[in-house]
Amino acid sequence: MYTVIHCAIAIAFAAFISGCLGAPFKSVNTCGYDVCNLGQSDKLNVHIVPHTHDDVGWLKTVDQYYYGTRNDIQHAAVQYILDSVIQALLENPDRRFIYVEIAFFWRWWMQQTEDMQNTVRKLVNEGHLEFISGGWSMNDEGVTHYSSIIDQHSLGAEFLRDQFGECGRPKLGWQIDPFGHSREVASLFAHMGFDGLFFGRVDFQDYAERNRTKRMEMIWKGSANLGAQSWLFTGILPRVYTAPQSFCFDYRCSDEPIKDDPHLYDYNVPERVQAFIDAAHIQARSYTTNHIMMTMGSDFHYENANEWFKNLEKLIKYVNAQQANGSDVNLFYSTPTCYLYALNKANQTWTTKTDDFFPISFSQHGLWTGYFTSRPALKRYERYSNNILQVTRQLNAFSNSTLRQAIFPLNEAMGIVQHHDAVSGTEKQHVANDYAQRLSEGIDSVIYVINEAYKKLLSKENQSLPVPTQFLCHFSNISECLPIEGQDSFTLTIWNPTIQPIEDMIRVPVTKNYTIRNPTGEFIVAELIPISTPMKNIPGRTSSAQYELLFRAPIPALGFNTYYFQVKTDITIEKKSTIKVTHNEACILQNQHLRIEFDDQGNLNNITNQNRNFTVLFSAQGLYWYTSFPGNNSSPEFQASGAYFFRPLTSNTLPVSNSRNITCTYTNQVQKALIIYNNWASQEIKLYDGARIAEIEWIVGPIPIEDNIGKEIIMRYDTDIQSNGLFYTDANGREVLERKRDYRSTWNYTVYENVSGNYYPIASRIWIKDNKRQITILTDRSEGGSSMHDGSVELMIHRRTLYDDSQGVGEPMNETAYDKGLVICGKHFLIVEPPEYSALYHRPIAQHLYMNSISTYALPNLSYDNYSNSFRQTWSALTESMPYNVHLLTFDQLTSKVFLIRIEHYFEFNEDDTYSKSVEVDLQSLFRNLGKIIYLLELTLGGNLPLNDMKRLVWQTIDNESSYSKSTDSNSLKSTVVTLNPMQIRTFQVTLQ
Ligand SMILES: *[C@@H]1O[C@H](CO)[C@@H](O)[C@H](O)[C@H]1NC(C)=O
Ligand SMILES: *[C@@H]1O[C@H](CO)[C@@H](O)[C@H](O)[C@H]1NC(C)=O
Ligand SMILES: [Zn+2]
Repeated sequence: MYTVIHCAIAIAFAAFISGCLGAPFKSVNTCGYDVCNLGQSDKLNVHIVPHTHDDVGWLKTVDQYYYGTRNDIQHAAVQYILDSVIQALLENPDRRFIYVEIAFFWRWWMQQTEDMQNTVRKLVNEGHLEFISGGWSMNDEGVTHYSSIIDQHSLGAEFLRDQFGECGRPKLGWQIDPFGHSREVASLFAHMGFDGLFFGRVDFQDYAERNRTKRMEMIWKGSANLGAQSWLFTGILPRVYTAPQSFCFDYRCSDEPIKDDPHLYDYNVPERVQAFIDAAHIQARSYTTNHIMMTMGSDFHYENANEWFKNLEKLIKYVNAQQANGSDVNLFYSTPTCYLYALNKANQTWTTKTDDFFPISFSQHGLWTGYFTSRPALKRYERYSNNILQVTRQLNAFSNSTLRQAIFPLNEAMGIVQHHDAVSGTEKQHVANDYAQRLSEGIDSVIYVINEAYKKLLSKENQSLPVPTQFLCHFSNISECLPIEGQDSFTLTIWNPTIQPIEDMIRVPVTKNYTIRNPTGEFIVAELIPISTPMKNIPGRTSSAQYELLFRAPIPALGFNTYYFQVKTDITIEKKSTIKVTHNEACILQNQHLRIEFDDQGNLNNITNQNRNFTVLFSAQGLYWYTSFPGNNSSPEFQASGAYFFRPLTSNTLPVSNSRNITCTYTNQVQKALIIYNNWASQEIKLYDGARIAEIEWIVGPIPIEDNIGKEIIMRYDTDIQSNGLFYTDANGREVLERKRDYRSTWNYTVYENVSGNYYPIASRIWIKDNKRQITILTDRSEGGSSMHDGSVELMIHRRTLYDDSQGVGEPMNETAYDKGLVICGKHFLIVEPPEYSALYHRPIAQHLYMNSISTYALPNLSYDNYSNSFRQTWSALTESMPYNVHLLTFDQLTSKVFLIRIEHYFEFNEDDTYSKSVEVDLQSLFRNLGKIIYLLELTLGGNLPLNDMKRLVWQTIDNESSYSKSTDSNSLKSTVVTLNPMQIRTFQVTLQ
């Protein structure tokens, strides 16, 4: 079991230096940049970097990879890699090795003796073994959410800090395998204190141009808001992450070893040396300094480390020996960190990059855009799990339960699922099942924490009744909650994890009718609304609930409300009179803000924003599909559409059905239009009373494949907005980038795939706009999205393909459940506002979507009076209102008096007249009920270093800009009031009295 080592904290004075951030035990000059070999100025210095790339699940599960089970699928065994590498490092102090994936390293570490652990600590402290990037996994960049990227890096960083101190602190990002690169990740890494980033995959056209113009290495300006603090030196590796051709010495490669005994047959030193010198010179032509890096390793290499190291040493010896004959090639063992340092010391200027590396392709027809949508259920489950993780942390902290260790299993599972073959959807089916199971078990384990927390938060003083057990209803998204079915009474407690009060529309699936009392005992208005047929038909739904109780629930900021449900003695499902229904008639959904018109064929014709007095006309809206390209991958033109790649057969889309049925329902609280296309596709467009956004709940699947045609299902919104080829997509749920159809801003783009080449990852939102009107669509998970025509936005929501796309996974993207194609249900949220008012809505709504309120149910078996006398029914951690543009990202109790928190400004610069300004927050407000803050230590984003100790390397751009920027935010905070600038996230370790 993982124990989080947090130093016991002795608080004597307000000015104690480090809480959980113990004094780093780095002795000078033994690790990091201090031990770098910087080569020779008159030579071509080749940094030989031994490395292994260990996928945290892909063709096998993470634990199968760890142990080396199922070697019939793929021979890979991480435990032996680490055993073998450690022995090899001990044998020769010149050797160096980097390790990346802490999910594996942690597994191995827990199984070592203390002696071995100390041996490894020594290797780390002396710079022989170096942790690089140091996340729990090497996270995907397209479909991950920033909240989870930060968490998974913090989890790895915390382990490394606790076990290895300063010498274990990763100094750069190593994203050698992910399928495209996000500017937001660069920014997050910069704020974690990384000095650079290396990766392997960029678009082949981009790569060719960079190779030709020697722009493989650059300064990436990671944020449009955060200035030079978000800049990150970024390098593209020459062969993704493999060794030069014919120099792979792993046992699984078949390249020639260096045969250096002239008495034996097949002596090959001269030929090998010359080939290597040639390879070095060719590589050097693409780069600008007299240093190059050669990644010596690949997937699951170094299981027999000796084979690699023994041959590398011969190579180093014989190639360097040629210097006596005038060779300029100088080889030595190194690490990416040391290579980066050598580049930094080269004192030269670098080109810059302000956009991102999406989408990418290695060939004319293989766009890595399918994975933006692949496995939509796992993508949603990952977001839901994060929601529970964040809420559990808050509950643990605000109840002062100090149960952080019990949250670890969910945290660990989330770290694993960020891997670039996990949430990306590019793993084998059995591995996807394993990820889902880990999340599920993680959630199960935190139910205990949720209950321990509510025991405290719900208890009134002097009451003796035990607090009823809280449980989650995971199938609420398909209107199912079996434990409450048929109950005469139950409670629903809703936690709001945001620092603003919210009003949620709550839907409770029921088999009886109930009265509902709010926390002050008043009966509230709830409407009994029939559950739609497509919802009831979802395979696996076993609920007999035919109705949902719909009611409006205001929930206090960072707090909860409990609603008490009592069965109505009058069991007839009455009140139908308040519900009006129309079938296949033209209808209008309308509330105070919006008006949505449909014709009798079920076409959405227009949406009017009544406050701003404009209308958006729709020429089409709804579900369509592309035919997946059926190919055998034998050459680029036969490239199939699959788990990684989206490749439509043609750019034509077909409607999922030519006719549709429309049913409109009007109640006091909601007006909605259910549009049923056929027996596998429907959507329900809802307008709640008072809402400024429309909600679109879609149910898609089983996608039919009896016709042997793979299908990629999109939701499309075709409007009369004059979008001029431009559309806007978010990066990891944060900053938004402008996209232009059939265009790349840094090279002359040749279009080979006019559909998938325009697909971008949508982690949270996409919009199009003209001068007066903007439609913004928010998603509940990551999806691929684009704008194929002016005025049009489309999001790919589900896919079922029949061919593998030949990137290794070896399976088509064909998910099933209950012996049928998988059914997916999900939501889009539509905002129709003028551009200048849009951020006001999409910013907070996006935050609420990933930090949703979490409902827990309980069966107290008590009358309302007994319940309300015994238990608190409302509570908030806050007593004063917090600024609208501030979001609480992390609230994690480390020890009873020490907390790790992150707060952020979640508006971009210039997005909103009011909220795009800097804002002050008093952190003490968050701790009102926990105690007085006596010490605040500002940390890097990863939480593993005091911000004041962060000293990043300084770089110069070709425009003579310097990445040096004085740390404006000193951590010697005089007060608990902190300032946040647009898009800034600040991380603090907070110590209470
Ligand atoms: C750069 O392009 C040249 C010419 O096509 C090629 O030979 C070389 O291998 C490329 N370099 C790298 C690092 O890919
Ligand atoms: C770095 O280069 C600049 C000019 O580009 C020069 O002024 C400076 O002295 C150089 N520094 C070192 C340490 O070489
Ligand atoms: Zn990988």
